[in-house]
Amino acid sequence: MKHIDILIIGAGISGAVLAERYANIGKKVLVIEKRNHIGGNCYDYIDENGILVSKYGAHLFHTNDESVWHYVNRFSDWYTWEHKEIARIDGKTVPIPVNITTVNKLFNLNLEDEAEMKNWLSQNRTPIVNPSNGEEAILNRVGTVLYEKIFKNYIKKQWNKYPAEMDITLLEKILFRTNFDDHYFSEQCQTLPDGGYTQLFENMLDHPNIEVLLNTDFFDVKNQYKNYEKMFYTGPIDRYFEFKNNLVEKLEYRSINFVSETIDASYFQENSVVNYPGTDVDFTRITEYKHFGNQKSKKTTIVKEFIVDEGEPYYPVPTQKNKEIYARYKEDAEQLTDVHFVGRLANYKYLSMDQAFKNALDLFDELENKTLLKTAV
Ligand code: FDA
Repeated sequence: MKHIDILIIGAGISGAVLAERYANIGKKVLVIEKRNHIGGNCYDYIDENGILVSKYGAHLFHTNDESVWHYVNRFSDWYTWEHKEIARIDGKTVPIPVNITTVNKLFNLNLEDEAEMKNWLSQNRTPIVNPSNGEEAILNRVGTVLYEKIFKNYIKKQWNKYPAEMDITLLEKILFRTNFDDHYFSEQCQTLPDGGYTQLFENMLDHPNIEVLLNTDFFDVKNQYKNYEKMFYTGPIDRYFEFKNNLVEKLEYRSINFVSETIDASYFQENSVVNYPGTDVDFTRITEYKHFGNQKSKKTTIVKEFIVDEGEPYYPVPTQKNKEIYARYKEDAEQLTDVHFVGRLANYKYLSMDQAFKNALDLFDELENKTLLKTAV
C-alpha cells in the first residue's frame, strides 16, 4: 500500500481545501469519497439539455471575506451574479426575502419608504422582550400578519416542525428587510464560477500528491487505512462514533428529493428560483438553471425540491435536543488528537460555501503554525 500522510474523508469544499493545502506543502494525500464524484454538495454537470445543473440545489457564492475570495480565484474565473428570488403566495408573485414590495403586494398597500414600513410593522407586531422559543423569536421580528401569511407554513414545510419547537437563534435572524432591497444576499461579493463548481474542484485536486478514491465509503475500508499523520473527517459526526453504539439518538437531518423535468419551451419561469411557501403544493421551490449565466438551449430544465426526512443528510435541524446530542459527540471528537472534524456534517452546522472554505483554511493554518512552532522549539 502507498504511503499516506494525510487521510481525508469527503471531497466537498472542506476536504478539497485541506487536500490542496497539504499537497502543496509536500504531503501525500488520499481523499476517500463515497459518491461517484468530487465537489460534495456543490457538484454540477451538463445535463441532457446542455444546461449546467447543480445536482444538490442551486449554489450561489457570496462572501465578504477577502482571504476566501483570493483563495477561490486561484482555481476559477468568476462572473458576477446578484441573486434574486421570488415567491408565489396567494396567487401573487413577490420578492423574497420580504421587503417593502412584498408587503405592498401581499396586503394591497402603498408603503413608500422605510419609515412607513417600520410604522406598518409596529402596528402588526407586539414586541416580546425575551423570546422563550422559536415562534416568539420570529413573531418578535416580523409580527403576526407576516408570520401567519409566510413564515409559519414555510418553516413547517422546511423543517417538519412548528417554529415553537425550534431553536431561537435561527429564527431571530430570519432574513427580512424594511427597505426595497430585493437582493437575496447582502454580501459585497456575489458570484458564480465561469466553468461551474466541479471544474473548480478538479483544479483544486489536480496535484501529483493527491489521490482521490471515489465510490468508497470510509467505513467499509477504514481498517485498510490506519497509518497516517492526520485524518480529516467531513462526514456526519454521529456516524463516525457509530451512534455511540446506538446508545445516543441519531442527529436529525432534513433531506431533499430533487425532481428534475425537461420542459419543451425556451423558459418555464421568469426567475432562476421561485419559492412556494404555502401548503397548496408539496415542493418548496423550483429552480430553472438556464437563468444562471444566461445559458442558451432549445429546451429548459427545472428542478422541484421536496423536503423529506429520509435520505442524504442536508440540513441539520436546529432544536435544543439536537444541540445537546451534538455536544456529546463533540466531547468525544475533542478527545481524538489525530482526527479532525471539519465541515457542515462533522460540525452539525449549516455552513455557507464561503464559511466552509474559511473554516478549512483556518484549520490548516492553525495546525501547521502549531507544527512550525513545535519544530522551532
Ligand atoms: P459536503 O457535504 O459538500 O461534503 C462532504 C462530503 O463527504 C460529501 O461529498 C459526502 O459524500 C462525503 N462523505 C460523507 N460521509 C462519507 C463517508 N462515510 N465516506 C466517504 N465520503 C463521505 N452555500 C452557499 O454559500 N450558497 C448556496 O446557494 C448554497 N446552496 C445550498 C443548497 C443546498 C440544498 C444545500 C444542502 C446547501 C447549500 N449550500 C450553499 C451550502 C454548501 O453546500 C456547503 O457550504 C458545502 O457543501 C459544505 O462543504 P462540506 O465539505 O462541509 O460538505
